[in-house]
Amino acid sequence: MKYNNLLVAYNTGITTITINRPKKLNALNKETISELHEAFYAADNDADTKVILVTGSGEKAFVAGADISEFADFDVDEGKALAAEGQKHLFDFVENLSTPVIAAVNGFALGGGLELAMACHFRLASDNAKLGLPEVSLGLIPGYGGTQRLPQLVGKGRAMEMIMTAGMIDANKALEYGLVNHVVIQEELLSTCQKIAIKISRNSPVAIEAAIKAVNSNFKNEVDGFSVEINEFGRSFGTDDFEEGTSAFLEKRKADFPGK
Ligand code: COA
Repeated sequence: MKYNNLLVAYNTGITTITINRPKKLNALNKETISELHEAFYAADNDADTKVILVTGSGEKAFVAGADISEFADFDVDEGKALAAEGQKHLFDFVENLSTPVIAAVNGFALGGGLELAMACHFRLASDNAKLGLPEVSLGLIPGYGGTQRLPQLVGKGRAMEMIMTAGMIDANKALEYGLVNHVVIQEELLSTCQKIAIKISRNSPVAIEAAIKAVNSNFKNEVDGFSVEINEFGRSFGTDDFEEGTSAFLEKRKADFPGK
């Protein structure tokens, strides 16, 4: 599949999606959001892909936000539709994928860029990264889930401060806040993500899918996460991966998960 705004590469179980509009600091225009949906959908449905990485092209930006030039003349209804469609097709979509998604934050992650990183299952940052939700400086609020996911990740007080000041935090502050899991030099960002991805890919994909579902349930008001965990735990006992994982342990060999 050929994209106008993305590069997609597959290597040993890992699909890397690179947002490729470096002249616009990889800002998310409508076409890029739609292509991201397609690329994530394709990677999630590719049996060989065990982990998805998402990053930005160039050394300056992961994503510097939603493309401001596209919504500058929007009215109330258009603004509402922009947020609703974006949340459905990209941000909620990514969060609920059954394949693990890691954000490699290689520079500015602002507005929709930070919101995309936060929709991923976890994040690593390069030491030059700057993260923030600057929407109130534009007379807006975050619309792609930022008001919900930032307090989940860093706590209410820190999220309020970041949103109200519209300021940026650097990679080490993001690490201290728990917004990213690791900070490395830029040259080592993708290789560090790949090392983590390889560890993940040795485990049962069926169990990982169930774990994503159970963990996400903690943040959904309408579902009881403990019940989801009980159901998913029980369902695991009926999978071929469970049979393989337990047999391999008892036979003192490495598991080779069929992924069923
Ligand atoms: N939407 C559209 N275009 C954007 C963009 C965005 N969110 N962020 C950057 N760009 C464009 C700039 O307009 C510029 O385009 P041009 O060369 O055609 O003029 C290009 O990307 C480079 O950005 P520039 O501002 O010149 O780089 P900089 O190094 O001086 O500043 C930032 C970098 C990230 C601080 C600055 O680009 C910025 O503040 N961007 C907007 C961030 C934001 O508010 N995001 C939330 C949107 S809801």
